[in-house]
Amino acid sequence: MIEALAPKAPDPLLKIIKMYREDPRTDKIDLGVGVYKDASGNTPVMRAVKDAEALLLATQKTKTYVGQQGDVDFLKLVGQLVFGTVGRDMVSIQAVGGTGALRLGCDLLRESGAKRIVLPQPCWPNHPSIVRAARLESVDSPFFNISEQRIDLDALIATFDTVERGDAVILQACCHNPLGADFSMDQWIALADALNARGIIPFLDLAYQGFGDGIDEDVAGLRAIVEHVPEAVIAVSEAKSFGIYRERVGALYVKAAENARPAVMSNLAAIARANYSMPPDHGAAIVREVLADEALRQSWRDELDEIRAHIKRTRAALAAERVNSLPMHQIAAQKGMFSTLPLTEAQVVALREVHGIYMTDAARINVAGLREADIPRFVEALKAVA
Ligand SMILES: Cc1ncc(COP(=O)(O)O)c(C=O)c1O
Repeated sequence: MIEALAPKAPDPLLKIIKMYREDPRTDKIDLGVGVYKDASGNTPVMRAVKDAEALLLATQKTKTYVGQQGDVDFLKLVGQLVFGTVGRDMVSIQAVGGTGALRLGCDLLRESGAKRIVLPQPCWPNHPSIVRAARLESVDSPFFNISEQRIDLDALIATFDTVERGDAVILQACCHNPLGADFSMDQWIALADALNARGIIPFLDLAYQGFGDGIDEDVAGLRAIVEHVPEAVIAVSEAKSFGIYRERVGALYVKAAENARPAVMSNLAAIARANYSMPPDHGAAIVREVLADEALRQSWRDELDEIRAHIKRTRAALAAERVNSLPMHQIAAQKGMFSTLPLTEAQVVALREVHGIYMTDAARINVAGLREADIPRFVEALKAVA
């Protein structure tokens, strides 16, 4: 049986990472991998995280399992960070990263009778895989005009008419991956109205809180839509906001009517139990310690401010350049780590092969991975191909 398995295509990003690693050029530039890098090209452990880890090492008394729901203090503190206050209308469960939260949410939606998930395109490439793994149909929706770098809200709302009540749509809350283009508050409200009119559930994916305009600013739209709809699913990743990628820290929150909440909780617990049983502790404990302690929290906020300022400086520097037909000026208005340039595949290949500049095949660049010293060379290479 096992010998009959057909191989799966490798993740296209892993291919780029491998090519970059094997490229002997010393002036190569990596804009492919989706992690934040500081001015010297490192992805450091945040100061508050190091301090929280020292505290945990000194004070942790047991390594017994955490409960089925996970670390409830972590869930409360992250809930406050995301929603302002966590209303009693929310059910929550710790998850194995944002990816794990998305999977839990998809499984829950399937159990509740959903058949389809709308995916505004281009989306985070793992979204379709997660939706399919949960045995739901993914429905691609036009959403973004790459050459004009503009959200097409009407096209997205038109797709809602092709699905049924109880289906859902995954909406990225801020710092869109791979576009950097976020909804305005008016667009969030228009979305809430369109979803309510059709009985479609917003499934919000929040993976970059604090990387756009600020911790509260980045979730203003999320808070507005959650307030406007009767039911919502929210997947949170703390990988980027706390720089703890490998610790796999996430959470799922579900807004539901009071009489539905016990069933939501027991379904989530059952899904998690059959999957990984109990969540890992360490990363969630770090986040809990940082958020619960005023000094650590301030230290974390300060470092997150530095990260955001660094990304904004890089965006402004790129936007100040004129590169033939490329809409460089839009890069400054976009948020977070990523933007997608209107480049053809041939141009992406030329950047890689001739200039040693690596980005995804779909021309997503990790703005947060571009060192200041590399900006002139990157711009010259763009001018040469575009
Ligand atoms: C849009 C989006 N959602 C969710 C995630 C999941 O993050 P993680 O599983 O690493 O917590 C990512 C990570 O890149 C992402 O870009």
